[in-house]
Amino acid sequence: MKSNGHHIAKVDDILNQWGFVSNPYYDHELLPDILFELFVNREASIEEFYKSIILNTSIFCIEGDYGVGKSSFFRRCALGQEQLDGSNIITNKITITKDTIEASFLLTVLSAVINSLKAASNLSPESKDKLAEIENVVTIQRQQSTEGSLYGLIGHTRTTGKSEQHLPKYTNLNMLLDLSELGDICRADLDKKIILPIDDLESEKCDLDQALYLVGLLRDLIFTDNYVVICIGEPGLREKLSSSGRTRSIFGESIVLFELSFDDFKQAIKKRLEYFSNDNVFTPPFDDEVYEKVHEYSYGDIRWAFNSLNRMFEVLVRKNYIVRTYGIPHVLPVLHEIEYKAFSSLESNEQKLLSVLSRRGPLSPSDKELQDAMGSDRATIQKLVQKLSEDSSLLRKKKVSRKYIYEVGPIIKSLENSNLLKTN
Ligand SMILES: Nc1ncnc2c1ncn2[C@@H]1O[C@H](COP(=O)(O)OP(=O)(O)OP(=O)(O)O)[C@@H](O)[C@H]1O
Ligand SMILES: [Mg+2]
Repeated sequence: MKSNGHHIAKVDDILNQWGFVSNPYYDHELLPDILFELFVNREASIEEFYKSIILNTSIFCIEGDYGVGKSSFFRRCALGQEQLDGSNIITNKITITKDTIEASFLLTVLSAVINSLKAASNLSPESKDKLAEIENVVTIQRQQSTEGSLYGLIGHTRTTGKSEQHLPKYTNLNMLLDLSELGDICRADLDKKIILPIDDLESEKCDLDQALYLVGLLRDLIFTDNYVVICIGEPGLREKLSSSGRTRSIFGESIVLFELSFDDFKQAIKKRLEYFSNDNVFTPPFDDEVYEKVHEYSYGDIRWAFNSLNRMFEVLVRKNYIVRTYGIPHVLPVLHEIEYKAFSSLESNEQKLLSVLSRRGPLSPSDKELQDAMGSDRATIQKLVQKLSEDSSLLRKKKVSRKYIYEVGPIIKSLENSNLLKTN
């Protein structure tokens, strides 16, 4: 304990010498408390978002590549509109994982809606009773489905005195009816719509066919009730989600986010440095060339860019570098050291594939050039790319006309010209 406390005190002390209260390269999704201070640009897209809401579009997508800033963008819009006119209620974001089934999806949606309605102050006493009643059923259902594992989800289950055994089965239809009722309550008591964000709709994180089916379940709700569903995920999401009969006709135009320009990225860094500094007196750890290089390697994945800067600065602090601004010659080896760890922990055939793609990519497993360079057949390469592209920092998948091609992600790109990839 003592040595740990001592270590933290030392890190704080070093950060202080740089002029910061914490690592300034904040690398998480922007949350409400710091959002307005740190968010840059995207004005035109923010306008588009509000336009969609005003036009009463009941379901639309926010699409963009890995780490481009989709989740933060949604938060920015949601928070802005709440502050502007408070005309909608926005629930916590809902995610669909590879094993989300109908019942668990609907329960998650119900919980999210209930929680945001509970926070509203001016519900009528009858609505509050109804809300409590539905919450009770939902809580018991969640408790049953997570029994023995996730105790954190269990709330107070005795408000109506019902016991689990006597509850009728809470069917999907019941859940949809309850959601519908909650929508009515929100309209009647608050004159507001309920906005449901479904985030992380990327083929690496969930099964998009399943997502299509689950979103389809909400279709009637979207049509007849007081809901707006916003689906956040990979480019082409709208096309994918509107491919079935149930959902085809209901999607509005997508908001497509492109990568932040280098100027925006620099601006975002400047805001972070200032925000996490002691009264704006600090030593910038890296010069503009470093930022340019990181931006170039990132392919617009600023999640990776901020995460790398964060870890690079951590090395400077941990190794007690002299407090001054560092340029490429000092910083690139630090970046290589960090990223090489991820590369070297891979199996040798995976390393080989990434090295080949780094020199010759982007390519598809069906390309002869790739098969020859690997000395493997299509099926073997297909398995490898499948696994590696689960981490978009290692390998990125792109659809070009009808086939998928693969290019190395920022981790591998940042190792180019370093000799570290020359294992094969
Ligand atoms: N407009 C912005 N201004 C400043 N920082 C931003 C902006 N957009 C995103 N960021 C930062 O970029 C990083 C990635 O953002 P975010 O998590 O929102 O991306 P994402 O597209 O949702 O990523 P993923 O593909 O992993 O879901 C975060 O560190 C966030 O703080
Ligand atoms: Mg996200």
